[in-house]
Amino acid sequence: MNTRVNKHIALITGVTGQDGSFLSEFLLDKGYDVHGIIRRSSVDFRQRIAHLEGRPHFHLHYGDITDSMAVLQIVSKVQPTEIYNLAAQSHVQVSFDAPEYTANADATGVLRILEAVRQCGLTATCRIYQASTSELYGKVEQVPQNEQTPFHPYSPYAVAKLYGYWIVREYREAYGMYCCSGILFNHESERRGETFVTRKITLAAARIAQGKQDCLYLGNLSSLRDWGYARDYVECMWLILQQDKADDFVVATGEQHSVREFCQRAFRHAGIELEFRGEGADETGICIGVSGNADPRLVGRTLVEVSPDFYRPTDVVNLWGDPTKARRLLGWNPQRTSFDELIRIMVDHDMAEVAADDAAARVRTNLAEYLEKGIVK
Ligand code: NAP
Ligand code: GDD
Repeated sequence: MNTRVNKHIALITGVTGQDGSFLSEFLLDKGYDVHGIIRRSSVDFRQRIAHLEGRPHFHLHYGDITDSMAVLQIVSKVQPTEIYNLAAQSHVQVSFDAPEYTANADATGVLRILEAVRQCGLTATCRIYQASTSELYGKVEQVPQNEQTPFHPYSPYAVAKLYGYWIVREYREAYGMYCCSGILFNHESERRGETFVTRKITLAAARIAQGKQDCLYLGNLSSLRDWGYARDYVECMWLILQQDKADDFVVATGEQHSVREFCQRAFRHAGIELEFRGEGADETGICIGVSGNADPRLVGRTLVEVSPDFYRPTDVVNLWGDPTKARRLLGWNPQRTSFDELIRIMVDHDMAEVAADDAAARVRTNLAEYLEKGIVK
């Protein structure tokens, strides 16, 4: 039997990721002590949480979800009342190149967290959220997808996440643990990794509009997704752990769009009107008009091309979530940020980022020139 305690101590694995950074902000604002697990790296990878470091209730611990000893040690030291297991090799395409590592992190990693809580004697006081995914529906057998829809995982990533989903259910039933899966559909933001399709598009739209890139190469333009805003989704993760009874929830907007449509709208927001012509690998996006500060010489140019390099051995092409249960039982609003608003947030951010990079590059160039001329020493 899991009882609610008055202390609010959260442990977040994957704290440096898109969701981990938003969730940390959300929980700190709620008065939690937030502990995050970070990996040692030779380069700086903490941009998303840099603004939180040094805050009194924010603590970081070195560890890795593939390392049982480290996980056990951290859980034992932190004595969390809530664990959010967000750590994962989260890129579907990469999972085809690194299937074993993906299984270790995304499947066995979940088991390590559950076992650490058990071994530390925290089953009665600690609740666990598992970052599950709409990729479980994979080669979809029903549209839209809800908590009853059969799973048909369609990548090494999805197969690993399916193990995570089932081991969470097993520990809930076998040991009465309060552990839940949030079956989250794609959620994006200005902090999204740059190789996921939405961020790749918004960055390219900004660069092309500012004359910094010639063309964007994409894979399957017809793929359909239910895209929401990550900042809204972390609230739902928290709500899932505040219920009387542990349960699993689909988290989605209930709206579906294609990659092509995302592309068209993002470019439009950057001042570029695109028209798609052709089919399959021959499809192209051509500029048919510009507005704002976008360069008029772009008109008539091909700005988007398909590259089969971005095709996947098996691709999930029809994700569309039904968030009825989350809306009804958690009181969560799936439509807080609209699709257009999400695109606006991302493109505005990337337009500013590309312009700032430009300004920084100009300062560097000027500095080099000044140094050369001896103007500054
Ligand atoms: P993300 O930006 O790729 O972040 C992944 C996080 O996991 C990073 O902090 C990463 O650390 C960490 N990590 C990876 N391997 C690790 C390991 N072996 N040990 C410890 N930490 C490790 O992903 P996200 O978009 O925030 O997604 C968060 C979680 O939700 C993931 O589990 C993902 O699979 C799942 N999910 C995401 C979506 C979505 O649309 N965003 C939808 C459904 C489910 P580094 O910074 O060191 O790499
Ligand atoms: N990444 C990428 N790059 N995807 C492309 C491209 C491209 O150039 N062109 C087309 N796509 C298509 C992919 O084939 C896929 O069908 C779709 O765009 C979305 O790809 P991603 O943005 O990489 O996300 P994902 O849906 O595969 O996975 C994300 O969402 C899952 C939830 O459904 C990740 O965040 C997963 O961790 C998450 O579980």
